[in-house]
Amino acid sequence: MTGSTTTAARHTERADDRGFDVERIREDFPILKLRVNGKPLVFLDNAASSQMPQQVIDRYVRYRSSEHANIHRGVHYLSEVATREYEAVRGRVRAMLNAKEEREIIYTSGTTDSINLVMHAYGRKFIGAGDEIIVSVLEHHSNIVPWQMLAEEKGARLRVIPCNDAGELLVDEYEKLFSPRTKFVGVMHVSNALGTVNPVKEMIAIAHRHGVPVLIDGAQSAPHFAVDVQDLDCDFYAFSGHKMCGPTGVGILYGKAQHLEAMQPYKGGGDMILSVTFEKTVYAPIPQKFEAGTPPIEEVIGLGAAIDYLNAVGIGQIKAHEDELLRYATGRVGEMKGVRIIGTAKEKSAVLSFEVEGVHPHDVGTLLNEEGVAVRTGHHCAQPVMQRFKVPATARASFAFYNTLGEVDALVAAIAKVQRVFVG
Ligand SMILES: Cc1ncc(COP(=O)(O)O)c(C=O)c1O
Repeated sequence: MTGSTTTAARHTERADDRGFDVERIREDFPILKLRVNGKPLVFLDNAASSQMPQQVIDRYVRYRSSEHANIHRGVHYLSEVATREYEAVRGRVRAMLNAKEEREIIYTSGTTDSINLVMHAYGRKFIGAGDEIIVSVLEHHSNIVPWQMLAEEKGARLRVIPCNDAGELLVDEYEKLFSPRTKFVGVMHVSNALGTVNPVKEMIAIAHRHGVPVLIDGAQSAPHFAVDVQDLDCDFYAFSGHKMCGPTGVGILYGKAQHLEAMQPYKGGGDMILSVTFEKTVYAPIPQKFEAGTPPIEEVIGLGAAIDYLNAVGIGQIKAHEDELLRYATGRVGEMKGVRIIGTAKEKSAVLSFEVEGVHPHDVGTLLNEEGVAVRTGHHCAQPVMQRFKVPATARASFAFYNTLGEVDALVAAIAKVQRVFVG
């Protein structure tokens, strides 16, 4: 906990009305006990990567110490255990996303890898010269650059959905972008730079009226609120394990079976085939068709433990607590003179981007670090957003369910100190 709880004390943080006990939850995260520069760590860089509870760390250790072997190809005990545990996670991800079938869940190395898979395996087969791909101005580079690479290779082009000054996508403008040439839409669920929650269900319905499939970048939604891919009716949904208390090096691509079956494999190699001769290779059915080579076995099992942990906390509780943190932080930072919040959409999730007048964001980040407060500064891999808002960079506080209102107070106190040092 931070020393600065006076303002936050007005709010009840312990076992409040919802039965959510943030102090109890924090006990699960050993890293949160760190002190940085002599101050308690205030970790507000969760949109980049979140922290791991002891339960996930323990699961890793158990796998490493008593379950490790390569999967699928062995008949011995350890290979069978590892295979069973690895495959069992697919069911947990299916349930988490409410996908229709387990075979619609593909293990990847993260959101970036998932999007690249769709670009290569779907895009290169179904998008050609003169075709158009719609993305939004808010996208992370990982949902821009692959499509640009494809457009360059095929002679296709990108169309960009604009946003208003609050950082909300303009759905009317989006609808106007469709033409018979539109072949694909890629849009993020939640903006990592601004926190905007995009109206993706409505946007998917519009695309489907034009017969166009949609990929949702769920890197910033999967960790923060319940996602139902059947309700959204998205064609693809991608997320990363390390942003939801799991390990790095693992992510998920959900795809509707009919698309996955029609797609060409992205990587060739072991484990993705039924038979190989020099004349012809017959590919394995989905999902194996897209999982060539030895996969990140322990990371997948770690992701399974992270999903179990989040389920135990309760995704509804997580959302409610994070919404409260964001509301409180928006109020407190918003009333500071000389601080501008960038991204003021009505629907937001867990992200507060801001700039301190007269201070470069990197200096803001450096001085906050001296107070033990970890925020991210820079363009957040979303340079078009910075261009849209005419800023070189922002400072970004991003919340997880283990953050406290007291930590928001610590952030505010540290920003005030930045102003005293730089602005006087
Ligand atoms: C919205 C969004 N999309 C994609 C990514 C890329 O995720 P990864 O680096 O785990 O592949 C991020 C990471 O910050 C993100 O915030």
